[in-house]
Amino acid sequence: MLHRPRRTRKNAVIRELVAETRIHRDMFVYPYFVTHGKNIKHPIQAMPGINHFSIDLLLEDVAVGLKHGINKVLLFGVGEEKTTDGSSSHSHTSIVPDAVRALKEKFGDQLFVITDVCVCAYTTHGHCGILHEGYVQNDASVDLLCKMALAHAQAGADMVAPSDMMDGRIGAMRETLDKHGYENTGIMSYAVKFASAYYGPFREAADSSPQSGDRKAYQMDFRNGAEALREALQDVDEGADIIMVKPALAYLDIIRSVKDSILLPVACYNVSGEYSMVKVAAAAGLVDEQKIVMENMCAFARAGASVIITYHARDIVEKGWL
Ligand code: PBG
Ligand code: ZN
Repeated sequence: MLHRPRRTRKNAVIRELVAETRIHRDMFVYPYFVTHGKNIKHPIQAMPGINHFSIDLLLEDVAVGLKHGINKVLLFGVGEEKTTDGSSSHSHTSIVPDAVRALKEKFGDQLFVITDVCVCAYTTHGHCGILHEGYVQNDASVDLLCKMALAHAQAGADMVAPSDMMDGRIGAMRETLDKHGYENTGIMSYAVKFASAYYGPFREAADSSPQSGDRKAYQMDFRNGAEALREALQDVDEGADIIMVKPALAYLDIIRSVKDSILLPVACYNVSGEYSMVKVAAAAGLVDEQKIVMENMCAFARAGASVIITYHARDIVEKGWL
């Protein structure tokens, strides 16, 4: 026999030598849910191990993460005043700008702060834009999202991450940021975001469920792969710095095809439902948490993601799973 593939699997040392994929902590972005108040660290029932933080305890928790090399965070605002027009989303004193200022003041450039830009946690109807007669208005929503992105940039965000899925928002945001002197504030686009049941636990965490209907008129149909590429290419053209695919686990084919079609870094979002399924199955003793988490991380990297947004990040680094 000329070819014996088992030769390079003979022992752990040779397996390490020929490993094609390696996970490094620098790939991780860790999401946080931030809320007003003091001394708050409330567990989110639907996401074991994940909490709502007030800014004071957020600062403490981020400091612990930084010691383990988690130096990129993605912020979601929770508990802000909800209105039909989502106006609190771009207030300079709303929770996300407050948190960004506090984080940048304490950690400076040691910490890279990314903010989620979407209005679903700020609207009474829970949709990701301005609702008119049951339809989310595209261009008016883009204007609103641009104001939100600008408020985050002015607070000191290093990068904004629009997750709304309106058409043309990346170009409009790039223009708004540049016009106000924030040409170095990056944009990570949730370019390929599917209408997914995997967001279930997040909607409890962010209190952002649509009060009527669903998000299918703006988020993508998960049956479509070519459309995913069109979305990705459009956001590249509009000036995105990083292109994200979301969710991750059920969409490895999409990550790969996006990776092969563009020259920007590709991120994947290992979303709440993917996270909670693993945590619950592990707690029930059905799977080995460390092994299954690291198998998933490798799958993301092998598919082509060089940025992994995951709620598992802290466990991975603190428990020495790398
Ligand atoms: C809001 C938003 C969602 C997520 C990130 N930003 C939920 C949604 O679109 O309904 C999902 C994150 C997760 O499930 O972990 N636009
Ligand atoms: Zn939204």
